[in-house]
Amino acid sequence: MLKTDFLVIGSGIAGLSFAVKTARRYSNSTITILTKANTDETNTKYAQGGIAVVNDTEHDSFAKHIDDTLIAGDGLCNRTIVEAVVHEGPARVNEIIEWGTEFDRDTQGEFMRGKEGGHSEYRILHHKDITGWEIERALLEEVKQYKNIHIHNHWFVLDIITQHHLGYLVTKATPDITCYGVYALNLATNKTEKILSRVTLMASGGAGQVYRTTTNPRIATGDGVAMAYRAKARIENMEFIQFHPTALFEDGISPSFLITEAIRGDGAILRNKDGVAFMASYDSRLDLAPRDIVARAIDSEMKRTGTEHVYLDCRAMDHEKFMQHFPNIYAKCKQIGMDVFDRMIPIAPAAHYCCGGIKTDEFGHSSIINMYACGECSSTGLHGANRLASNSLLEALVFAHRCAEHISERLESGRIPAFNDAVPDWDAKGTDMPGEMILITQSLKELQQVMSDYVGIVRNNTRLERAMKRIDLLHEETEELYKSSILSPQLCELRNLITIGYLIVKGAQFRKESRGLHFNTDYPGKSNLLQPVVL
Ligand code: FAD
Ligand code: SIN
Repeated sequence: MLKTDFLVIGSGIAGLSFAVKTARRYSNSTITILTKANTDETNTKYAQGGIAVVNDTEHDSFAKHIDDTLIAGDGLCNRTIVEAVVHEGPARVNEIIEWGTEFDRDTQGEFMRGKEGGHSEYRILHHKDITGWEIERALLEEVKQYKNIHIHNHWFVLDIITQHHLGYLVTKATPDITCYGVYALNLATNKTEKILSRVTLMASGGAGQVYRTTTNPRIATGDGVAMAYRAKARIENMEFIQFHPTALFEDGISPSFLITEAIRGDGAILRNKDGVAFMASYDSRLDLAPRDIVARAIDSEMKRTGTEHVYLDCRAMDHEKFMQHFPNIYAKCKQIGMDVFDRMIPIAPAAHYCCGGIKTDEFGHSSIINMYACGECSSTGLHGANRLASNSLLEALVFAHRCAEHISERLESGRIPAFNDAVPDWDAKGTDMPGEMILITQSLKELQQVMSDYVGIVRNNTRLERAMKRIDLLHEETEELYKSSILSPQLCELRNLITIGYLIVKGAQFRKESRGLHFNTDYPGKSNLLQPVVL
């Protein structure tokens, strides 16, 4: 058994930045980070385009960034949250610069700024085309400065501990559901341990692996949202899955390599198989329209021309500038035998970002007492029906700070109790090794297929109904396996992804309209439902 004052689940930008802030403030307290894979294996590490922030008020303004975010969010953003994130962004970005993150600068030392879909100005700070790798590197270096931060990698968190584990009936209507810690599988010993905490931060990232084609790494299996849902937390906006318009098309390769939108910001053009630049037929903002519009346009061109991909044309771009800003993309394409100055890059949309998640208040507090959520697993009200490009790294930093501030206020006013020692150990009685791994891998494939075929960029009622029936069956089969098996990460991830699939379909069925990332051909217009779907 482990006891820690602050428990952080996840070692991406959200978890690490929260840990640093808390470790600084409470040098006599312990901060424990649990992460299920290698410490740096996160969505954060793969971020390319950069972080959207207004730190040049001569050429940009907070009002413009706020407007861009609200327009992308298509009526569902919480304006107060949008204003807070945009206004607080520069201070938070300065902090990670102080902690060693290097963003590209010109010869005068001024930041170089990129532009992506839906942005009215060049405001995206970046480190070449590997911004996330640089941020993760700097944060992990900073974390090493604090002796009171303990990182345990290859620990798989299974469930959030609440009154349910003390034998009480907990339903969504229970008013004071409280988090006492988690059960986690130590993958080195294969033992499930009880970890008690005073405060828990869920920073477990995205869920792209619920789709067959995704830009998200293997770890993105929606564990945090699924366990929060099991613990009866409020979950919202799950129908809004963002498909990135331009993932490199390589048949059978998963995850898909991203071709950053910043390339279009620098002049790359989308073309169909006949070489036609088609975006003019879809939106006056052409290739830099918000992501939902570009992804739907590509989907429609692919269906119209009967192809599996369209192309991104970089041939007319300035070669030197390209090599400076996008060396990683150049190298990746070269590695698969393609010179981007000679040939167009085949691309297709891929599941990229989950706009919904664990519902929080303006301080990142979830509906479960003493459990906070931050980063991609949370739903703070910033993104609404469609996230503006490069706003997620910013949201994670701003909310990690807000969570840390709120927790400290509550601690100092005595509102966070000591550990709950009545929590029982994990009960593994009656379980055995799962007989056949194929049962797990095949169910995962089926789930990903169903989600991609029926709950993708364009949806309709029949497809959603079919998806739900298949998910129900997968759920039933997997629960049986779960009850009788010794736990493995693969089985737990499958179970979590089935929950994620269920939440996406359920949200999509409730939303009888087309808004932002949710497009249902049976309801092509917008309704007056200016509310998140809360499950
Ligand atoms: P992550 O960085 O994903 O970290 C999640 C952590 O939780 C991991 O350490 C994981 O191991 C751990 N975890 C999960 N489940 C468990 C469990 N059961 N037990 C223990 N640990 C667990 N956003 C931008 O703003 N700008 C960009 O340019 C950008 N580019 C992107 C490019 C790509 C290819 C991708 C995939 C995403 C991009 N995004 C971008 C989105 C952004 O990277 C993510 O939303 C953000 O990094 C999420 O950070 P996080 O800390 O919430 O989660
Ligand atoms: C990209 O670089 O295109 C991804 C940016 C994002 O997802 O915010």
